[in-house]
Amino acid sequence: MPALGEGEALLEVQYLGVDPTIRGWLDERGNYMPGVKIGECVRSNGVGVIVETNNPAEYPLGRAFMHLTGWQQYCVVESNPFPPITMVPEGVALTDVLGALGHIGITAYVGVLRVARPQPGETFLVSAAASGVGSIAGQIAKMQGARVIGIAGSPEKCAWVVDDLGFDACIDYKTEDVAARLKELAPGGVDVFFDNVGGELLDTVLRRLALRARVVLCGDISTYDVDSPPPPLRNVRYLMGKRARMEGFNTLDHWDHYHEAATQLGEWLAAGKLKTREHVLVGLDRAPEALVRLFKGDHLGKLVVRVAPNSPR
Ligand SMILES: NC(=O)c1ccc[n+]([C@@H]2O[C@H](COP(=O)([O-])OP(=O)(O)OC[C@H]3O[C@@H](n4cnc5c(N)ncnc54)[C@H](OP(=O)(O)O)[C@@H]3O)[C@@H](O)[C@H]2O)c1
Repeated sequence: MPALGEGEALLEVQYLGVDPTIRGWLDERGNYMPGVKIGECVRSNGVGVIVETNNPAEYPLGRAFMHLTGWQQYCVVESNPFPPITMVPEGVALTDVLGALGHIGITAYVGVLRVARPQPGETFLVSAAASGVGSIAGQIAKMQGARVIGIAGSPEKCAWVVDDLGFDACIDYKTEDVAARLKELAPGGVDVFFDNVGGELLDTVLRRLALRARVVLCGDISTYDVDSPPPPLRNVRYLMGKRARMEGFNTLDHWDHYHEAATQLGEWLAAGKLKTREHVLVGLDRAPEALVRLFKGDHLGKLVVRVAPNSPR
């Protein structure tokens, strides 16, 4: 256990958020952050409780914080770190700040309301629809009056987003012909495609856009864990014909909207307007298995690892 320096505190990690971006961090080239080197602690979001402090004003004993804790049981936090550390508000479940009330929910919020901006009656398509981001993005689009179609990887996931979350339809991309189903479900084309998957699926949807469609690139999980680069997109020219726009975004650029988003998401959660699900694996030693499961789609709901044996939720 490290000795604490001036202004520092010790966080006992309770839960880790298992996020697709970790796969990019494990590539030596990194992504929007530098790659994690062999021998370093795997970078990851986590939430924990202060168990020792040299800085009671900033880090009071017993208070919970979300931070880039890494895959470890204890984490030293310095004063005013970067990326910023977030105090978990009283009464908020620890795992919610790794999902709906943390960067997952904020990504869906800013991606839908600040980038995609669906209008009432528009057709809003979201891929990885049962993922943390996808499931929340679809529900927010629905609240804006859009007609929401999901794409997900199993009958169980499709049933969840339609029956429990209120999506209008969902396509199982593993067993159905996505292009044919889109033709049936969105004969007038897709107005907004909120894409979490990229690759072949993105290329397929580019042929089914409506006039002045918006394609929002949130993630391209199909390309994170492959040895060779994905094939080039063949259908980019359809953007021209449809006067469509394709735009990527990174939630870090919208962090000034964190409080607005977290407050609104919290209200929707409390009112039952926003529904979420968690998939919890117990034990730090299961973190690698959790990351592998993400890329197989072998989970339903936001995947978290419970690190401390008796963590509160
Ligand atoms: N732009 C940003 O700032 C930002 C911030 C956070 C997250 N993101 C992105 O948002 C997306 C969702 O993240 P999340 O944390 O919400 O995900 P998640 O809950 O961890 O779920 C990931 C899901 O992606 C699907 N998937 C995995 N490999 C796939 C493949 N090859 N083809 C199609 N689907 C695949 C799987 O569902 P199926 O069973 O349906 O295949 C899996 O359950 C990711 O692309 C992530 O990188 C972007």
